[in-house]
Amino acid sequence: MTSKGLTLKIAERLEEPGNILRLRLARPDGAPLPKFEAGAHLDLRLNDGKVDLWRQYSLCSDPADTGFYEIGVLLDPKTRGGSAAVHKLALPGVTFEVDGPRNHFPLAETAQKTVLFGGGIGITPMLAMARRLHALGRDFVLHYCTRSHAVTAFCQIIAHAPWKDKVVFHFDDQAVEQKLDLTRDLPAPAADTHLYVCGPQGFMDWVISGAEAAGHASANIHREYFSADVDTTGQSFEVEARRSGITVTIGPADTIAKALARAGVKVEVKCEEGVCGTCVTDVLEGTPDHRDKFLTDDEREEGTMICACCSRSCSSKLVLDI
Ligand code: FES
Repeated sequence: MTSKGLTLKIAERLEEPGNILRLRLARPDGAPLPKFEAGAHLDLRLNDGKVDLWRQYSLCSDPADTGFYEIGVLLDPKTRGGSAAVHKLALPGVTFEVDGPRNHFPLAETAQKTVLFGGGIGITPMLAMARRLHALGRDFVLHYCTRSHAVTAFCQIIAHAPWKDKVVFHFDDQAVEQKLDLTRDLPAPAADTHLYVCGPQGFMDWVISGAEAAGHASANIHREYFSADVDTTGQSFEVEARRSGITVTIGPADTIAKALARAGVKVEVKCEEGVCGTCVTDVLEGTPDHRDKFLTDDEREEGTMICACCSRSCSSKLVLDI
């Protein structure tokens, strides 16, 4: 179930190790929240007069619990303003405009075997998935990788979880045999074995390419990027917004969404780095140069959609259905 336009208050703010805030959000009147699926995220509007941003945060609480939503927010030293704003603004009692929950990272709940890989703050959707898989009685393992035990968040939650024995911790500063070893820790590929990966881009790229090399089908490797280092630059090209009757030129450092916005054609954007899917627009003609991390391999190949916040064009002109 998806809901939009909630106003939620910070019911609890907890400091976790590793500069991570654990936030509980609830309705101000305490009424039940819409149900969500494991893997879903919330869009939070962060507005303090200076910044006005939407950012996405995976839900880590129990999908069966409608009393509150819980998210984890890392204070990212490379923040573009989002994580710093949450750490500053999310004080107990403060309310936020929230969209969602929405799920771009759904669980294949009937899989025979599920292996979850969470790197750092990428553990958050995995906690909701572990709770759900346990409730379903499924066979699963959660590999949780961090730099060291001292900066590992959510240890208390895991220590008290009935599925704690399914969690394997891997710390970068420990002995080599304790670290994640894809040769050892990836399951054998099978049609009903599914992998889920979330964390920093380097971690994700490593696990995904290792899984593909080991023979896992791309469709069985599920991924959720929190942020991405996208290169949005390139050669100039033209974009025709057919329904709006407007054509714009996208310069080498410009984006489709920004150029269209200047011409009065609004494309809704949130993350602006190709991970949330808010800006996905239908392509009528031309060949997109996909720079995002949101579309699947099949969707890229079809070429009928584009993330207008970051992707470009291989052809001299793109025609969009907008
Ligand atoms: S705004 Fe998030 S993918 Fe484009």
